[in-house]
Amino acid sequence: MKKFLVAPSILSADFANLGRDIAAVENAGADWLHIDVMDGHFVPNITIGPVVVKSIKKCSGMFFDVHLMITNPEKYWESFYKAGADLIVFHSEVLCDKMQLVKDIKSAGIKAGLSIKPKTPVKSILEFLPFIDTVLVMTVEPGFGGQSFMHDMVPKISCLRKIIDEKKYNCLVEIDGGINFDTAKICAGAGADVLVSVSFIFSAKDIEKTIYNLQFGQQH
Ligand code: DX5
Ligand code: ZN
Repeated sequence: MKKFLVAPSILSADFANLGRDIAAVENAGADWLHIDVMDGHFVPNITIGPVVVKSIKKCSGMFFDVHLMITNPEKYWESFYKAGADLIVFHSEVLCDKMQLVKDIKSAGIKAGLSIKPKTPVKSILEFLPFIDTVLVMTVEPGFGGQSFMHDMVPKISCLRKIIDEKKYNCLVEIDGGINFDTAKICAGAGADVLVSVSFIFSAKDIEKTIYNLQFGQQH
C-alpha cells in the first residue's frame, strides 16, 4: 500500500502556541512541516520570516518544507536556509533567474522546489524538472488556508506524473490547497507524492487518524 507524505502547514496553527501545535502533528506521524511564508506583495497576506523558522527548528525534528510565496526569493532564501529549511520551494512566476536560484539552493546542500499557481501551465516549468526535487502544484490561489480544492488542477498532476515517470526525474509531486480525505484520494489517483494540508488537519478531532488516512488513502 503506497504511503503518501503528509505535510501539515502551520498556517492554521495557533501562533500563540506554535510549539505545541507542531508537536501535535509531529507526534501524530506527519512527514514534513509545511511552512507558508507570505510577503503581502506576491500574495495578499503576510505570515512569518526566518526568525520564526529558527525558533521552531529548535523544537522539531521534522523535515522543514518552506513555501516562499514572496516576490524576491533570491534575496531571502539563504536566511531561511540558515534558519533550518530542508526544502525551499519558490514560485515559478517570480522574475529572478530561477535556474540560478535552484542551483544556489542545492549548492547549499538542501532541496529545491518550484511552485505553480493555478493559472500557470505545466509547460512553463518543464525545463526545471530535471533539476528540482519537488514541484508544488497549487490547487487553490495562494494566500490563504481554508479554500476549496480546484478540481481543474488535477490534469496538471497527471501530466507532471507522466513526464516525471517517463523521463525518470527525481522530482516529487506535492499538492497544496484544499486537501481533505476526498481530494487527497483524487490527487493520489492522479499521481501525487506529497499532500499539504492545513485546515483539514488542524480542525480534525483525531489528528493522528486524519494524518494516517491521508497517508494511506483509507478510512482507518
Ligand atoms: C496557501 C498555502 C497553503 C494553504 C493550504 O497559499 O500555500 O499551504 O495554507 O491550506 P488548506 O489546506 O486549508 O487549503
Ligand atoms: Zn503552502
